Amino acid sequence: MTVTTTSSLTNSGALPASRRGSYWITTFGCQMNKADSERMAGILESMGYREAAAELEADLVLYNTCTIRDNAEQKVYSYLGRQAQRKRTNPNLTLVVAGCVAQQEGESLLRRVPELDLVMGPQHANRLDTLLAQVEQGQQVVATDEHHILEDITTARRDSQVCAWVNVIYGCNERCTYCVVPSVRGREQSRLPEAIRLEIEGLAAQGFKEITLLGQNIDAYGRDLPGITPEGRRAHTLTDLLHHVHGVKGIERIRFATSHPRYFTERLIDACADLDKVCEHFHIPFQSGDDDVLKAMARGYTVDRYRRIIERIRHRMPDAAISADVIVAFPGETDAQYRRTLDLIEELGFDQVNTAAYSPRPGTPAADWPDQLSETVKVERLQELNALVERMAKGRSARYQGRTEQILVEGINPKDPQQVMGRTRTNRLTFFPASKPDATTWQPGDLVAVRIEQVRAFSLSGTLA
Ligand code: SAH
Ligand code: SF4
Ligand code: F3S
Repeated sequence: MTVTTTSSLTNSGALPASRRGSYWITTFGCQMNKADSERMAGILESMGYREAAAELEADLVLYNTCTIRDNAEQKVYSYLGRQAQRKRTNPNLTLVVAGCVAQQEGESLLRRVPELDLVMGPQHANRLDTLLAQVEQGQQVVATDEHHILEDITTARRDSQVCAWVNVIYGCNERCTYCVVPSVRGREQSRLPEAIRLEIEGLAAQGFKEITLLGQNIDAYGRDLPGITPEGRRAHTLTDLLHHVHGVKGIERIRFATSHPRYFTERLIDACADLDKVCEHFHIPFQSGDDDVLKAMARGYTVDRYRRIIERIRHRMPDAAISADVIVAFPGETDAQYRRTLDLIEELGFDQVNTAAYSPRPGTPAADWPDQLSETVKVERLQELNALVERMAKGRSARYQGRTEQILVEGINPKDPQQVMGRTRTNRLTFFPASKPDATTWQPGDLVAVRIEQVRAFSLSGTLA
């Protein structure tokens, strides 16, 4: 249910667009949140808000929050504390908390931070204008009810001019025992392939060159859509979607995330190998290298299945980059089990691994298990793991030395204006001189052949080939 309560700071009626001032959005968490923030920025601009030069000058501050681990959640409270204080001297400031902490805490956020005007869950991102209209009428608004996400008719204000996120499925129906996402993002809702293709055609017309199809479990795409093929398959799968959007002219690169080893199919691997715009980079979290831990996490696959996926990918695309997410110090994880995670990383050789120590989350099964590990064990395991991840990444980077790579330019290197930065198809960040032989400079969206001369664990540098 959407709860609205009347606030003491009663305004009268909605503001005219010309009286809406500046906004500031800070985004925490994953790519879904980044995509939601871009859509919310688009809505604010269509309402007449403009982007503020600094957070402390903004008339409307929106935090799009993450609660995947406790430290992510705590960060939000410290940010909010500062803004709440500002609001006491500037009652016209509008304070919005969106995203996953908003969904998790709902009304109790208002008790904790009474200065808030609007608390809205991720499923309400496209409704920001309606919710703000209620705020302008003097209400304090909480919107956290389960909501059918309407087809996105808003125009996002995108951070990049080159690479765009495209949501294809919202929510997650898995029940990994450590994870808060299903409870904050709700049930799976796939967008229709026609709507997705239309959005991508629009992006191509605006000059975007790369798209990343997004879903928490992107392999689940289409399972909530109706239809069976004559061969008896589901009519809508990620593989079909890739075929469906591949032909959009102007788009040069297609990526997707996040893949789930339980549902990752051979058909998908073959499509990635056959469709030349689909980049040779796969983000497939494995979480643990031990079968019993995977079972306790309710991940639904074994280490062996994971290994076979990676082998199959490398068989079809030998140069493919593989990245993953891993959790250490899950409740009850023994030293031997933890070592199996290290062994798997060493065996498979990852280009990048996002690592985390287990953090108990409210309402998840594993949070109540008795065999929680100590902070000391968490820190020790994480440090050792990170050192290994960096060593492996360096090893994987070494293969680029002396090679010529196609780089899609994203912009100026913020640390050196003489250089531009972009990525290889395999997603390695790459820097090279901004000036072209004809004395002009490389622009965002250019595809450039670059000879790689320096390799580091997570980035490369080179010169024009
Ligand atoms: N949907 C993706 C992951 C989404 S969350 C998947 O299934 O892989 C991003 C990452 O955060 C996860 O892959 C996991 O490694 C980490 N994570 C999730 N919950 C966590 C928790 N309670 N403690 C520590 N890390 C967690
Ligand atoms: Fe969380 Fe598991 Fe869903 Fe990923 S698949 S979002 S880890 S519940
Ligand atoms: Fe965080 Fe929500 Fe994403 S909890 S990781 S922002 S889905």
